[in-house]
Amino acid sequence: MKGIILAGGSGTRLSPSTDSINKHLLAVFDKPMIYYPLSVLMLGGIKEIMIISTPEDKPRFEGLLGDGQSLGITLEYREQSNPNGIPEALTLSEDFIGNDDVTLMLGDNIFYGQGFTTLFRNAIKNHKHATVFGYRVKDASRFGVVEFDHNQKVISLEEKPEQPRSDFAVTGLYIYDHKAVKMAKKLKPSARGELEITDLNREYLKIGQLDVELLGRGFAWMDAGTHESLFEASEFVKITQQRQGFKLACLEEIAFYLGYISRNTIYKKGKTMEKNDYGKYLMEIAEREHSQQYWESIDRNPILGLAANE
Ligand code: DAU
Repeated sequence: MKGIILAGGSGTRLSPSTDSINKHLLAVFDKPMIYYPLSVLMLGGIKEIMIISTPEDKPRFEGLLGDGQSLGITLEYREQSNPNGIPEALTLSEDFIGNDDVTLMLGDNIFYGQGFTTLFRNAIKNHKHATVFGYRVKDASRFGVVEFDHNQKVISLEEKPEQPRSDFAVTGLYIYDHKAVKMAKKLKPSARGELEITDLNREYLKIGQLDVELLGRGFAWMDAGTHESLFEASEFVKITQQRQGFKLACLEEIAFYLGYISRNTIYKKGKTMEKNDYGKYLMEIAEREHSQQYWESIDRNPILGLAANE
C-alpha cells in the first residue's frame, strides 16, 4: 500500500495567512498541519508516502520532512503545477503507485479517536476496490455527501449538494486499488473547473465497487481549511493534549512505538529543541524507555491504540 498526501491548492480561503506560505505548513496548535495526515498514514502502517504540493512550496516540505529516514519511512515529493483537482494526485503519482493499492489523504484533514488506528488498519486489510470514510456532520453541504442504505451499501454520492441526502460527509481519506489511476485519467472537470474526487468515487459506485466505513460519534474529524476550522482544530489539539499529556500526531513518537526509530534517535531529535515543549516531550518519550516500572504498568497499546498483533 502506497500513501499520498495532497498538500497543494491555492489556499485562498485562508488568505492573507496563506499569501506567502502553504496552508499545510501553518501550525495546528504546536505542529505543522501536514503532521496530522502524515501521522494517519504512518499509523495505518504505510511506509512509502508521496507528498504533493505546489512548485513553490515543494522545497519547503522537503526542508521540513526530508526523505523520511529520520522517521523510518520513505518520503517522495511531487509538484502539482495548478490546483486542477484532487484526483490529479493519482495521475501525478502513476509511476509511484505502480501496481500497488493506494491511500490518498487530503493535507488539511485531521482524524482522532479511540480505535481509529485499528479501524483504519482493518479497512486497509479488508478493502477490495475503493473505500471511503463517512462522518456525520451538521453542515453536510460543505462536503462530499454519501447516502447509504440499512446495510451500509452506498446509494448515492454528491459533491457539496445544496440539499444533502444524508448528514454523512465523505472525509478526505480514500483507499483505492491500482485502477484508480486509469479511472482518474478519464474524469472531466466539473462546472467549477476542477476534477472532483466525488466523480471518481461515483465511478466506483457505478461498478459496484465502493464501500463506506462509518466513523462513529467517538471520533473527531476536522478539516482545517477555513479560519474558523483551523482555530477550532488548534483548540481541540491543545485541550486534548493538555488533558492526557499525550501529543496528537507526534511523528517521532509514532515512529518510535512502531519500532522504526531508536530511543537514541528520538532523544537526539528532542535535544535539538529542548527549550520547547515539543523537544521536551520527545526527550521524555526516550526516558520512558528507561523506566522498567513504566513498561510494567503500561504496554505500547494505549499510546498508539494498537492491539498486540496489529
Ligand atoms: O475534507 C473533505 C472534503 O474535501 C470532501 O468531503 C470533498 O468531497 C472534497 O472535494 C474536498 O472538499 P474541499 O472543498 O475541502 O476541497 P479543497 O478544495 O479544500 O481541497 C482539499 C485539500 O486538497 C486542501 O488541503 C487543498 C488540497 N488540494 C486541493 C485541490 C483541488 C490540492 O492540493 N490540489 C488541488 O488541486
